[in-house]
Amino acid sequence: MNVRFGPSGPLRGTIGVPPDKSISHRAALVGAMASEPVRVRNYLPAADTRSTLEAIQRVGAIVEDRGAEIVIRGCGLRNALSPTCAIDVGNAGTLMRLLPGWLAFQQGRSFMLDGDESIRRRPVDRIAEPLARMGARIEARESRYPPFTVHGAPLHGIEYELPVASGQVKSCVLLAGLVTDETTVIEPVPTRDHTERMLAAAGVPVRREGDPVAGYRSTVSNTDELELEPIDVPGDLSSAAFLIAAGVLVRDSRLILERVGVNWTRSGFLRIVERMGAIVLWDAEPPGTFEAREPIADIDVRNAPIVSTTVEADEVPLAIDELPLVALLGCFAEGETVVRGAGELRLKESDRIATVVDGLRGLGADIEALPDGFVVTGAGGLRGGVLDAHGDHRLALLGAVAGLASEEGVEVVGMEAAEVSYPDFAADLATVTS
Ligand code: S3P
Repeated sequence: MNVRFGPSGPLRGTIGVPPDKSISHRAALVGAMASEPVRVRNYLPAADTRSTLEAIQRVGAIVEDRGAEIVIRGCGLRNALSPTCAIDVGNAGTLMRLLPGWLAFQQGRSFMLDGDESIRRRPVDRIAEPLARMGARIEARESRYPPFTVHGAPLHGIEYELPVASGQVKSCVLLAGLVTDETTVIEPVPTRDHTERMLAAAGVPVRREGDPVAGYRSTVSNTDELELEPIDVPGDLSSAAFLIAAGVLVRDSRLILERVGVNWTRSGFLRIVERMGAIVLWDAEPPGTFEAREPIADIDVRNAPIVSTTVEADEVPLAIDELPLVALLGCFAEGETVVRGAGELRLKESDRIATVVDGLRGLGADIEALPDGFVVTGAGGLRGGVLDAHGDHRLALLGAVAGLASEEGVEVVGMEAAEVSYPDFAADLATVTS
């Protein structure tokens, strides 16, 4: 589906952004592992998180959709059922990396996972390796890619230093650690801590130590049962980021984004945008805060002139999914905007260094790829043109925002990719367009 986004007049108004995708995935998985029913309000109704509900049903959980909330009747920690055919994770990398952490200790049972064309290009050796060290066995295509099979086994605890700064890998190991005496994941650079918060809320003994400079250690220890009070999923900062960029770039705009999750380990983009000189107000959570509950805030965004910035490796995991938007902002900023230490972008739903650089260059941007990032030389604006989403939701939404702020508009090829995280983007936009 091709959709054209023309240059926009001022964007003004209030938007409730879609529920957080990362937290929705985790709520569904913890619900599936729990012994009592778990009620989740504001579960993200999008393709990725639907894949998670289907996956947990395949292994025996029951999901009841009551409209405003879903109720998950789980299997209990050790009672996932072995399905007769492969579990389809669709396009959802988070599902593919987290679910095996639970399946790895379903003793004597095996689970095959597969997904779409994009998921088949995304590596799973990063989870297979620590799970094997814990005692599970994973068989993957070429030892690295889906489809792959998790053979459940008794697990023992490990201390695991992440070779890549990945919240998904950390979460997988912590879930597997639930049946071990003690399992610790060491992060040289902090990554999102939604899993730790949700496990703590579900009664798991979780310790998170360290600071943003020295790095963090997250430790879980043996648990018999998980129980979770009803949870209300906050708005997704990664989806809000598209509206934030639009609010900053489109002349005379002012947007209020309601109830957005602003967990410090997720809000790197807000700090980057502020550094670029844009006016974005929110209640900041102090670095290193760790509570079971997720902090939320209303974000107030206004159009402003922006300057270039540099994003280094230590900031990358805190803004990983928003880095394509940093490239777009860089096109409008004065000077050179640089993102480095972000080689992980090449392993996302598309190779996001290649697709962002090619996509924005096609719209008139002065942008060069680096092996682990990109350099954009701001020209104070963007001409416009055609941008191919390559089946990647964040690329489709990037093209849409680029169109609003451009001189000639942008035609996005494959806009349906936005279904993965933000199906109502065009409808939300219409409510703030005059
Ligand atoms: C996610 C973690 C990130 C992010 C992804 C969601 C999560 O991946 O890019 O969209 O929910 O844990 P990595 O941690 O592998 O970088």
